Amino acid sequence: MIGRLNHVAIAVRDIEKASALYRDTLGARVTPPVDQPAHGVTVVFVELPNTKIEFLQPLGADSPIAKFLDKNPDGGIHHVCYEVDDILAARDHLKAQGARVLGDGNPKIGAHDKPVLFLHPKDFNGTLVELEQA
Ligand code: CO
Repeated sequence: MIGRLNHVAIAVRDIEKASALYRDTLGARVTPPVDQPAHGVTVVFVELPNTKIEFLQPLGADSPIAKFLDKNPDGGIHHVCYEVDDILAARDHLKAQGARVLGDGNPKIGAHDKPVLFLHPKDFNGTLVELEQA
């Protein structure tokens, strides 16, 4: 059911610093930061030949990643994102298998303007999983 690894997301306190590290030290192509007020984050993508790294910096007072950064003050891997062809079919399959879908269970529009869902980390080896309709 799942296809390509779309991205690995890393939560950071300072997105400019993280971008400079990947651009200058690792020599990667890095997009400019984009604020996403609806999601409470500022986002940068590191574009690798086979996938992407997504940096997430908290935006606003009640950012969903604020608590994560309290627990991981140096930043850390926040989620992995896999592509699916049909997000509603994927959701229904996962629910039938007993996996928990976060929120109200309906896809939201994610960072790439495509429908996304998140799956409970306790059901997936302690890792928050994002599904994105490719
Ligand atoms: Co993501």
